[in-house]
Amino acid sequence: MFSARTAFSAVQRRAFSVSAQQNSKVTVLGAAGGIGQPLSLLLKLNKRVTDLALYDIRGGPGVAADISHVNTKSTVKGYNPTPEGLKAALEGSEIVLIPAGVPRKPGMTRDDLFNTNASIVRDLAKAAAEHAPNANILIISNPVNSTVPITAEVFKSKGVYNPKRLFGVTTLDIVRASRFISEVKNTDPANEEVTVVGGHSGVTIVPLLSQSNHPDISGEVRDALVNRIQFGGDEVVKAKDGAGSATLSMAFAGARMADSLLRASAGEKVVECTFVDSPLYKDQGIEFFSSKVVLGPEGVKEILPVGKVNEYEQGLIEACLKDLSKNIVKGQAFVKENP
Ligand code: NAD
Ligand code: LMR
Repeated sequence: MFSARTAFSAVQRRAFSVSAQQNSKVTVLGAAGGIGQPLSLLLKLNKRVTDLALYDIRGGPGVAADISHVNTKSTVKGYNPTPEGLKAALEGSEIVLIPAGVPRKPGMTRDDLFNTNASIVRDLAKAAAEHAPNANILIISNPVNSTVPITAEVFKSKGVYNPKRLFGVTTLDIVRASRFISEVKNTDPANEEVTVVGGHSGVTIVPLLSQSNHPDISGEVRDALVNRIQFGGDEVVKAKDGAGSATLSMAFAGARMADSLLRASAGEKVVECTFVDSPLYKDQGIEFFSSKVVLGPEGVKEILPVGKVNEYEQGLIEACLKDLSKNIVKGQAFVKENP
């Protein structure tokens, strides 16, 4: 099967030599933040992006002026934090990335961000539903397990929900898993691909090492590796010591996901793990789940099954589903109670 990692590496090898054949406006909401700034820079380096729209409640125009001096062909525009500015940033957009919201501090879980970020994402989702109803919406703001269902509810309430166009960005878990397994095996991470399914927080992050190049990893080494992939975010939060969470690696991961969608939209077959409206566990009441997804011009082309897992991984999936279910219902209930 065509692999997402291989595809991204191929694009990296071509290193911006691809000629842009489409007009692709990409919007970043939260563009002046820790993730937003490097993400916007990486998008400026992507030749598939023709127009970059940067919006934030503060600092959008400044970041845009700065990035606009980079000598690649795309135009960059910053927008004022007004309803008109938000509308203009969104209109005509093919991809809307949302990293707006507060990050964790040591001792917090992602769910602790819910009270602040739920309403930020709800309000930005309302604007996206009104002004870019056909765009691919990529949710980065945490807790992703709840902010994606929030966005879905908002789009449903506006009558424009298309499950094929809503993505929770879990790419950082894939990036980490590839890097961490390469450290264990002393290999090149470019050759390591690990499928990570479930959601994006703690035990809802389920790496499937049995499907990797190293199904032999077992015992304490396996337990430590799985734990590091599940709690990689905490590693960064702790090291930043109150100054936030992963921003640079997240920008890299977000730029990869946006690039994958742009390539898919141009007809390439691309597979990424991403948190989407999924049939895989709907019979157990779980409406959203991250698994390998084939991307296409329509957004989600096909949701691939989880595949063969071992007994240990089956246990991880069961633990994941319990938490995930609560996170999803919490997001859905929030929009019903606070429309
Ligand atoms: P940050 O505080 O550095 O930046 C957030 C930005 O959002 C700020 O510039 C802020 O002004 C802006 N913002 C706030 N409300 C807004 C609104 N209503 N409209 C537009 N912009 C608004 O935080 P960060 O480190 O960039 O993290 C952002 C979010 O991404 C956090 O919730 C964090 O937990 C999450 N995150 C997710 C992943 C992932 O894998 N999905 C990884 C890292 C971080
Ligand atoms: C991550 O995985 O790094 C992000 O979700 C940010 C966090 O809070 O850990």
